[in-house]
Amino acid sequence: MCGIVGFIGDAKDANAVDIVIEGLKKLEYRGYDSSGIAIVEQNGQLVVRKKKGRISNLEEFIADENLRSGIGIGHTRWATHGEPSDANAHPHMDASGRIAIVHNGIVENYAELKKELIEEHGIEFRSETDTEVIAQLIGLYYDGDIEAAVHKAIERMTGAYSIGVICSEEPNKMVAYRKDSPLIVGLGSNCNFIASDIPALLRHVRQIYLIENNETVILTKNNVKILDSQLREVHRDVFNVTWDAEAAEKEGYDHFMLKEIHEQPKGIRETVTRRMDDDGNIVLDGINMTKEDLEKFDRVYIVACGTAYHAGLIGKFAIEKLAGISVEVDIASEFRYRDPFVNDRTLFIAISQSGETLDTLAALREAKQKGARILSVVNVVGSSVARESDDVFYTWAGPEIAVASTKAYTTQLVCMYLIGLYMGRTKGVLDDETYKKYVDGLLEMPEKVQEILRQENRIEALAKKLYKRNNVFFIGRGNDAAVSYEGSLKLKEISYINSFAIAAGELKHGTIALIEQDTLVVALATQDRLLDKMVSNIQECRTRGAYIVGIAKKGRDSVEEHSDDIIWIPECSDELSPLLTVIPLQLLSYFIAKLRGCDIDKPKNLAKSVTVE
Ligand code: F6R
Repeated sequence: MCGIVGFIGDAKDANAVDIVIEGLKKLEYRGYDSSGIAIVEQNGQLVVRKKKGRISNLEEFIADENLRSGIGIGHTRWATHGEPSDANAHPHMDASGRIAIVHNGIVENYAELKKELIEEHGIEFRSETDTEVIAQLIGLYYDGDIEAAVHKAIERMTGAYSIGVICSEEPNKMVAYRKDSPLIVGLGSNCNFIASDIPALLRHVRQIYLIENNETVILTKNNVKILDSQLREVHRDVFNVTWDAEAAEKEGYDHFMLKEIHEQPKGIRETVTRRMDDDGNIVLDGINMTKEDLEKFDRVYIVACGTAYHAGLIGKFAIEKLAGISVEVDIASEFRYRDPFVNDRTLFIAISQSGETLDTLAALREAKQKGARILSVVNVVGSSVARESDDVFYTWAGPEIAVASTKAYTTQLVCMYLIGLYMGRTKGVLDDETYKKYVDGLLEMPEKVQEILRQENRIEALAKKLYKRNNVFFIGRGNDAAVSYEGSLKLKEISYINSFAIAAGELKHGTIALIEQDTLVVALATQDRLLDKMVSNIQECRTRGAYIVGIAKKGRDSVEEHSDDIIWIPECSDELSPLLTVIPLQLLSYFIAKLRGCDIDKPKNLAKSVTVE
């Protein structure tokens, strides 16, 4: 995820170049694909240096220049608009070369602003980013007052973003602005800082201001002024950071996994809302499939590994139901060796958080070589899977650091629903009412996920009852069976408890032999149309002595009646329920692993990106 660092002080005491680069390094853990810095040199020149890849590439690039300044902004970029490259890296400058900006977030109306800047003002763009539009807009409005120019530009922009701005004509001032993307100010002695995250500043300051939405900050080396949306000065209490650097990276959470579980409402919201136009229609910018293309496909494969494969299982339900196309889901390491039936009428959908999983990549290459059209659902922009695909649909979960995938999974699910809706609409098989029902349902999901997250203490208490078990079964039907596989994987990979997931109707064909007194069974019963059948499966287990933890939509009393413990999820359609059902399973796994003293973020034998066969 992108990171911002800025410093304003006295070049005699401290070099902004060193301080900004050191701050950027503290944000490396968040993931990035390029970095850059802008300073105003003593001679009044604005200097911008940026490089694709690691921060060390940037350091090497500027090593011989002896750059020194009392003001600087820097950025680590996690690509969204435009691939990772030197040109797309931040900071970006306006056309006059006087103004430089760094930016986190998205300018939603950047395409229309860019068109206006090109057509009406003849501005030439040097990058594919939405950020350059902000730099050019500020440049357009600049008439000697950088603060006023920033305000004018902000009035034109929609989206969620925070920015840091410097101008060579006002080298003693830095302007920053926040809208729905984190921004903090660090208060030093004879110097001040901006950053997107606390870890970037901890070496220098512990006293910070937390900037609120729609606030502008004007910094000089001795003063920080915060203005509200009406440009009235506001008072802000100082926040004293008491965390150590490691805790700060996790924003106060004990583990990245827990932090990432809590980031899911935001990830889901961004993945949906950034694809909606003003009329509530889904616009999938990465996918260019016509009605004719879609009608041509006689077979769709979804291929992935692990958690991404589990998202594919839900994708099958979503695409078959919404687009009326039959879908097969394959484990990538199996697909490539089973001589799959693929030709130019095949749509191959790869799902991968990292975009580097070798099995998925190899399956993709196999399908491509046989003529399939390749659509990938990927979290990392510019990754191998993304580069080798015909169409790419990004999950926008932000970097996932914990090995156990959580927010990547829920955003992959959202992508599956969006692809199903897009295909159904484009093919003309989905009526307006059903389309709207799903879109509205997706828009309600972030709040519903939040509602489950508010039950965290209850789920932790439940984990205290269960964490000593050594065998767990997850059962469910339909969508719930697919989520059971994910719940079981989450538990086993971080707690090392032997767990097994099975479609509940399949129990009686063998596995039920293992259910005995006190066996723990987590029963997912959120599919209304299968509720009675699921309750029967729960009873089958209970009569054999199993301890049942039921998961059901509020008010489904029959599940509670036959369970020893119950976790409620908010009301939702059967189709969208996986987005909610998985949340208590993630939390339960997390708390059980924590109680067992496991290394949650780095489980044994596992790597975040599996680039070997
Ligand atoms: C489990 C997990 C893995 C990955 C799998 C595929 O929590 O993270 O099962 O889902 O290794 O990885 P990607 O999605 O990067 O292709």
